Amino acid sequence: MAVKRAPDKRTIPVLFTATEIRERVEGMAAEIAAKIPGDFLIVSLLRGSFMFTADLVRELYAISVHPQIDFMTLSSYGESTSSSGAVVVGRDLTDEVKGRTVLIVDDILETGRTLNFAINLLKERGAADIKIAMLLEKPGKLQVDVKADFVGFSIPDKFVVGYGLDYANHYRELPFIGYLDVH
Ligand code: IMP
Ligand code: MG
Repeated sequence: MAVKRAPDKRTIPVLFTATEIRERVEGMAAEIAAKIPGDFLIVSLLRGSFMFTADLVRELYAISVHPQIDFMTLSSYGESTSSSGAVVVGRDLTDEVKGRTVLIVDDILETGRTLNFAINLLKERGAADIKIAMLLEKPGKLQVDVKADFVGFSIPDKFVVGYGLDYANHYRELPFIGYLDVH
């Protein structure tokens, strides 16, 4: 498997190449189109899902699916390589979700706390139906009972970066998904 060098000269082993990601995101768009008929609102959870969201909506466009798109920044207290503690809203949504079919788009499902928070918030605000698209999931680490409807890739228990995912807000720009081998 190819190895790339980040600007800080760190070696990042590649888990999924840009081509592999593109093909999988295309497949996910087809799955979403088949399971969500009609109008829906994408709620993209920033910052990690910005690249995935941008590619996903273009793949949806290619198969004539035209969602509306909004963004919300969620973060957990205590930035580290293992998420812990409470989730807080940074930038909130602009659009109303009441009565809408919502597709949550997020980067990675680990403990499930972030996703659980987002689902509860959207339910409280009256979303009619909530579906979930996750680029990545780390099996066996869930601490709450949540499940994604659409999953890009299941990954081993490594700290992954690239394609929007960060370590201390670095590596988001990598066009591939790799991992930091210190973790
Ligand atoms: P959860 O709330 O434990 O499910 O964690 C989800 C959030 O933790 C993601 O949206 C990421 O921001 C972050 N996260 C979890 N695992 C990783 C990783 O391997 N790399 C980068 N961020 C991660
Ligand atoms: Mg993050």
